[in-house]
Amino acid sequence: MRRLNTITEVRAARGGYSSLGLVPTMGFLHEGHLSLVRRAKAECGAAMVSIFVNPSQFGPGEDLEAYPRDLSGDLERLESVGADLAFTPAATEIYPAGFDTRIEVGAVTRPLEGAARPGHFEGVATVVAKLLNIAQPTHAYFGQKDAQQAAVIRQMARDLDFPCQIVVAPTVREKDGVAMSSRNAYLAPAERELAQALFVALTAARVRFYEGETDAGALRQAALDVLALIPEIKVDYVSLADPETMAELDVARRGAVVSLAVRIGKARLIDNLVLE
Ligand code: PAJ
Repeated sequence: MRRLNTITEVRAARGGYSSLGLVPTMGFLHEGHLSLVRRAKAECGAAMVSIFVNPSQFGPGEDLEAYPRDLSGDLERLESVGADLAFTPAATEIYPAGFDTRIEVGAVTRPLEGAARPGHFEGVATVVAKLLNIAQPTHAYFGQKDAQQAAVIRQMARDLDFPCQIVVAPTVREKDGVAMSSRNAYLAPAERELAQALFVALTAARVRFYEGETDAGALRQAALDVLALIPEIKVDYVSLADPETMAELDVARRGAVVSLAVRIGKARLIDNLVLE
């Protein structure tokens, strides 16, 4: 695996691959990230992984400084799954002095995470657009774990004609159902136990749907009822939305996304399930 720190180095390396899968990450890599790298490698023959904790997607008072980092461990993990290129730019490489452009995607960015984290998706869209332009991959891989982010990136790639296929891959979970996340590192052991309730809540909604319930309010309530059993869990939202627009639905249908955001201690956690 080659490590690249500059855009010039990426451009020079790019020529060596006819097909290239890009996996953008903020590091502190876990099996969820590595599943995307394996898939990129299998489908494209070559995988580039970017590791960049993007300051512009963190709001004031969010966890930019505390965000967990382990660059040497990340590079070992990437080596072990056969990544070809690791792009590890400094913040000044991505945002040099004078940088002054932001990409604003429309309605899909407004509810849910967009409402809770003003400016977040502008930061995500801007950095992903830059990474796609820098690496010029044939395919770029994102996780269903961040369902709204995936919808935002699909919208941007479509609207701005990025010559790149956006691939969204399933959420990888721990044995107890907890979605893998770099932010799980913020959880104390007792809090990590409580986090199991997120998947239980989402599953409760999905089971009701399988049983024939299509009233979106009833399905949201099924998830809320589970979360209400645990007073340490502070619910930010429970949503049942269209997977492309992330607009709330009145009537559930196959393909709809049940998602939630909660706080447990210092951590803000998100998770979702697709109704299939
Ligand atoms: P990060 O949180 O590091 O996630 C990088 C990619 O891994 C995202 O596409 C995310 O959806 C995916 N991912 C995270 N946990 C996963 C899991 N348990 N299963 C499957 N995929 C998972 O998302 C970001 O970084 C940033 O916003 C980024 C897109 C890199 C832009 O800065």
